[in-house]
Amino acid sequence: MVEAQLPSLGANQVCVAIKAVSLNYRDLLVSQNTYFSQIPQGLVPCSDGAGEVVAVGRDVSEFEIGDRVATLFFPNWQGGSADAKAVSGALGAEMGGVLTERFVSDANGLIKLPDGLSYAEAATLPCAALTAWNSLFEVGDLKPGQTVVLQGTGGVSIFALQFAKAAGARVIITSSDDEKLKRAKTLGADHGINYRTRPDWAAEVLQLTAGKGADVVVEVGGPGTLEQSLMSLRVGGRIAYVGVLTGLAAQANPVMLIPKAASIHGIFVGSRAMFMSMLDAIVAHNIRPVIDCEFAFDDAASALAHMKSGRHFGKILIRMDA
Ligand SMILES: NC(=O)c1ccc[n+]([C@@H]2O[C@H](COP(=O)([O-])OP(=O)(O)OC[C@H]3O[C@@H](n4cnc5c(N)ncnc54)[C@H](OP(=O)(O)O)[C@@H]3O)[C@@H](O)[C@H]2O)c1
Repeated sequence: MVEAQLPSLGANQVCVAIKAVSLNYRDLLVSQNTYFSQIPQGLVPCSDGAGEVVAVGRDVSEFEIGDRVATLFFPNWQGGSADAKAVSGALGAEMGGVLTERFVSDANGLIKLPDGLSYAEAATLPCAALTAWNSLFEVGDLKPGQTVVLQGTGGVSIFALQFAKAAGARVIITSSDDEKLKRAKTLGADHGINYRTRPDWAAEVLQLTAGKGADVVVEVGGPGTLEQSLMSLRVGGRIAYVGVLTGLAAQANPVMLIPKAASIHGIFVGSRAMFMSMLDAIVAHNIRPVIDCEFAFDDAASALAHMKSGRHFGKILIRMDA
């Protein structure tokens, strides 16, 4: 932890007093320097924060002091499809992140919060929730009555469970832990499969769908789970390729995409426009983000250690005001 000078505020910038930060698996990779991109020395980590506006630059018209805001993972991705500019400048990897008491952002890197969403809840949304939203409804094109397979009970998958159920879809979720599967069912999961005792879980997905297979799989496991995902997919199904929980080395053969006429589409979080649609759905369905536990700012290292242990269910939070 270091003391730093506040950067001066540019005409189009906003200074936010960060109240809460949530962790993503990526923050663990960044802290270990095993993330995709080179990590600058002395980087302030974490992409997901929420707080109160405490100063605004002279040309900023969309925010005022006292506004409640959350950060955008990709400040340059305002809408439309991803392009190189949109996915540049990610917080907490390429650019300084939010694990700091004061965060200075360009105005287009912030989003106003609806009333009724706490800072703690809002801090869970910028990466995991938006990734789940993009996977299900943008790339996955999930429709009511369709079946989605979710893997594990971490941040992305639990948001995907809540969103998919709100949209009237059927959810099959896997976990290494029967207790976590029970908890997922209390959130609406229709079926749970323990991937430790049932490593061939695709067979159970096929059984549960009368041999048809799932419409959408949100692939957070990566190379080590892709083969089961492909086998569990229906003809014409879609894999939203999100994560690397099983590592980066290639393990699966994508040949099954051919007879399944299926698609795999890489997901990279999402845009401001998607964030706004997601916020509308969160408010309309009164979706409450699932927070596993909270740590104090000066105990952030313990929060990362907790994430590494994999014991959590949903999101891990760091409170700046604890
Ligand atoms: N592409 C993107 O834009 C994007 C955005 C967000 C996250 N991600 C990636 O998505 C992944 C998940 O991120 P997260 O923040 O949700 O992580 P997280 O909260 O740390 O989730 C970890 C959980 O994943 C489950 N898991 C681990 N290995 C598994 C396996 N082999 N099969 C099924 N489940 C497994 C475990 O659940 P159980 O304890 O229930 O077994 C574990 O607790 C990470 O690889 C992350 O880098 C990518």
